[in-house]
Amino acid sequence: MIPKIVLGKGDIERQKAEVIILPIGQGGLESDPDFMRLNAVFEGALKILAQQADFSGRIDQLLECTTLGRLPQHRLVLAGMGNLETVQSSHLRSYAATAIRCALNANAAKVALLVPRGIATDNWRAIAEGAVLGAYRFTKYLTAETRPKRPLDTITLCGAANSSQSIKKHVELGQNIGRAVTLCRDAVNEPSNVLTPTSFAELALEVARRHAMKIKVLDQKAIDRTGMHLLAAVGRGSVHEPKFVHMTYSPKGRAKKKIVFLGKGLTFDSGGLCIKPAAGMDEMKNDMAGAAAVLGLMDALGVVRPGVEVHGLFALAENMPDGESYRPGDVLGSLDGKTVEVINTDAEGRLVLADGLAYARRLAPDLIVDAATLTGACVVALGKTCSAYYTMDDDLAERWKTAAKDAGEAFWRMPLLAELRDQLKSDIADLKHTGDRWGGSITAALFLKEFVGNVPWIHCDIAGPVVADRPKDIYPKGATGHPVLTFLRFVEAMS
Ligand code: BES
Ligand code: MN
Ligand code: ZN
Repeated sequence: MIPKIVLGKGDIERQKAEVIILPIGQGGLESDPDFMRLNAVFEGALKILAQQADFSGRIDQLLECTTLGRLPQHRLVLAGMGNLETVQSSHLRSYAATAIRCALNANAAKVALLVPRGIATDNWRAIAEGAVLGAYRFTKYLTAETRPKRPLDTITLCGAANSSQSIKKHVELGQNIGRAVTLCRDAVNEPSNVLTPTSFAELALEVARRHAMKIKVLDQKAIDRTGMHLLAAVGRGSVHEPKFVHMTYSPKGRAKKKIVFLGKGLTFDSGGLCIKPAAGMDEMKNDMAGAAAVLGLMDALGVVRPGVEVHGLFALAENMPDGESYRPGDVLGSLDGKTVEVINTDAEGRLVLADGLAYARRLAPDLIVDAATLTGACVVALGKTCSAYYTMDDDLAERWKTAAKDAGEAFWRMPLLAELRDQLKSDIADLKHTGDRWGGSITAALFLKEFVGNVPWIHCDIAGPVVADRPKDIYPKGATGHPVLTFLRFVEAMS
């Protein structure tokens, strides 16, 4: 459930809430009128508490305390903002998310959050995004005993000098964008017995219907007829047939650019005949996080409505061992025409993406972006909290870096090393689909590169950050919604 976000009039301690949240700039306790007003209510004890807890308003500092009956609210949260003069939208988003998550853990149903004075009007969007992201919990499968008794239902934002229409609009937009990210999170958290290629396609149909977007769903037959033999092969071992979905957002008026986003959508990746070890195999329900992020983007585009044409492509399949499964050593045709020798059936992602990229090229776009939980090697290289991106185009790389920074999401550029290309040479087909152990994220990217032709292209290996071990900034534990916000910032910057 997404909480209601309302604008509050008057001081924060006058709001109907169980928890109130105050942003504190670095070293600014005494110069902060809101803090000093509350400090007076506590007869100076609040300042002593902050000092003794070594709370100075440094970024990432969080101090939670009871109000000891001095205020109508039960708890007070102080959140460090660092230097308020140079505060960025990513800090504000992170502030709202972290503080709201703190209130959520205190089981508050109503929370009031003070927005730092004097921020630009459009930064209210980031605050609202963060508030929704911080309030997220995946409770679908909790029954009476474990379900939160009083879910967070209202977040009151205070600090608007006037309740201007413009602030209201940005808050509403931020709330809708937050909802789009949580749609992605829900899909990633959803287990594979519920989320199959077919039910993912239905989810996409719902999103398309909501925003009146064009959508086409290719079933097994249509996939075969189109010639997407790689996608078909990967899905062949499963009782759930593969699907390929093509969704289109068109702006009003002439589009400035045409961009394709393609997501890897393995609703479960057992490894196929090259089956994975049991330990950690449950995590492979997340192997559709690339597709989920593209769906989150499409949902966000429906409310932001930028002047760019965006195609969302979803390559959906389940990778299972079976008598019908594709085998190591098989040689497959592809939509592109190239033949591929299969080496390891657990390297299925690059196969479904190769057909997706060939499909994308036919749309004659200005740019293709793909996102995939593609390799364990990428997690070895960059850790659990940072994604890799690959592109031949330095200008695009700069734009991607900026979008990720604005979104507050971690991306690091990796090289498409030409000297590793030899590893993909096959004796009996045009290409082998895996290389040796070393540089596994790079050889996967090099394989994909064979299918993009001359179209400008960015490949994102997001295997690490799509699920988090512990909450941090805008991300909760579990599905994070990475990198929906980066996608959105990137598209907005193009329009
Ligand atoms: N979905 C996995 C990659 C993955 C691993 C994502 C761990 C998140 C966490 C992918 O399909 C895969 O199995 N890749 C193999 C490729 C190898 C067989 C060349 C891998 O990384 O081990
Ligand atoms: Mn795999
Ligand atoms: Zn996979």
